[in-house]
Amino acid sequence: MVLFLVIPGEGRTGRRSHGISFALKRGIFRSKKKHRWTKIILSGIRNRRISGKRRLLFSSGNLSGSRKERRMEYRGNILVVDDEVGPRESIRMIMKPYHEIQTAKSGAEALQKITDESFDLVTLDLNMPDMHGVEVLKRIKEKKQEIEVVIITGYGSLETAQQAIRYGAFDYITKPFNIKEFISVVNKAICKKRLQDRVGTVISDLKSKGITDWSVIMNQGEPDPQGGTVPLGEAWSNCKNLSLLDFIKVLSRTLEAKNSNMHHHSERVNHYSMVVAEAMGLSEKEQEVLTISAFLHDIGKVGISNEILNKRGKLNPEEWTEIKEHPRRGVEILKPLCLPQEVLKIILHHHESFDGQGYPDGLKGEEIPLCARIIQIIDSYDAMISNRPYRKALSLDWVIQEIQSCAGAQFDPRIVKVFVDILTRQESLNLVGSS
Ligand SMILES: [Fe+2]
Repeated sequence: MVLFLVIPGEGRTGRRSHGISFALKRGIFRSKKKHRWTKIILSGIRNRRISGKRRLLFSSGNLSGSRKERRMEYRGNILVVDDEVGPRESIRMIMKPYHEIQTAKSGAEALQKITDESFDLVTLDLNMPDMHGVEVLKRIKEKKQEIEVVIITGYGSLETAQQAIRYGAFDYITKPFNIKEFISVVNKAICKKRLQDRVGTVISDLKSKGITDWSVIMNQGEPDPQGGTVPLGEAWSNCKNLSLLDFIKVLSRTLEAKNSNMHHHSERVNHYSMVVAEAMGLSEKEQEVLTISAFLHDIGKVGISNEILNKRGKLNPEEWTEIKEHPRRGVEILKPLCLPQEVLKIILHHHESFDGQGYPDGLKGEEIPLCARIIQIIDSYDAMISNRPYRKALSLDWVIQEIQSCAGAQFDPRIVKVFVDILTRQESLNLVGSS
């Protein structure tokens, strides 16, 4: 049995609701008893199949049944943000059996609640009169990066989906959606947040004990639900809803949380790399390898002190040597995860230069894996278009000239051509500066 939820609330923009959606609205407005209308909604859709589009973007994973979901060991704190009572209360009632739910009627109220209280997840409407959902998402992530956000919209577009990715949304769901899939996405996001918290706790705990050897950290483990310990590298398998890629995102976000310059850097590198990979016709398999590598390329920086990573002035030779160690260190950190060899090679060589002047091995030209050459250019691009404590983000024209001037030296000229073409068409691709 597949249940679809048609959430009321499309009327503001003039689109009339109809069918069950219309009946639900009548149920809502005719009922005076608190919450009675939600029972009408649920009884109205139970045992009925409603055709309609449903799309879950950039999320995958196994769907699990409602009874199984109900047995989840962790109840998350969720904030449901929607200016319209229908969708807001529908989502609240759907999620109530599984999680603690609060609601907010506007972007401003949501931001206030997030400042005052602790939440694991926010479900966020895009079209709100006081503040657009993407702006709310951006501000949530500025305030509390660790909170997961699921965007729910009746008017999804490629542009808003790209912005959602860029600002770190967990998922982007268009209405009407399948209830089971929605519950699964929310539970998966909660699971990821929980893993994030646990990984962060383990890392800071071990660091406070002076353990900075990452192979030790990956193998020493974290408390499991039964009170024992499991290796950190296997911790993700306790969250069965999470894929390896989800776990990898958790790791990269843990790294980025310690350095304000790096917030969402790996997500942006992944996003832009994928645009280049598609333009260059890379196979699906190559794109999978590139995605994992893009998220993890700088994981080796996790062992480098904040003083060095955030230093405003020039690095001294010792500091520079330490920075140059991060590709090798990254490979060491990731060994327990048994990732494909291609991924480790890409991470190891993402600072090689096309002319052989890079590090760690001074590889040249096509000796450098293609995906490493792609990450090399995107990594530099993202650094140039991002604000730094010592300078503002550089202009796109300047960045394009700089990238072109490095063709054949630092960068592969073929990738420079593809990427500059993409950048000059950036309006249609929504490739904009990071912050
Ligand atoms: Fe790097």
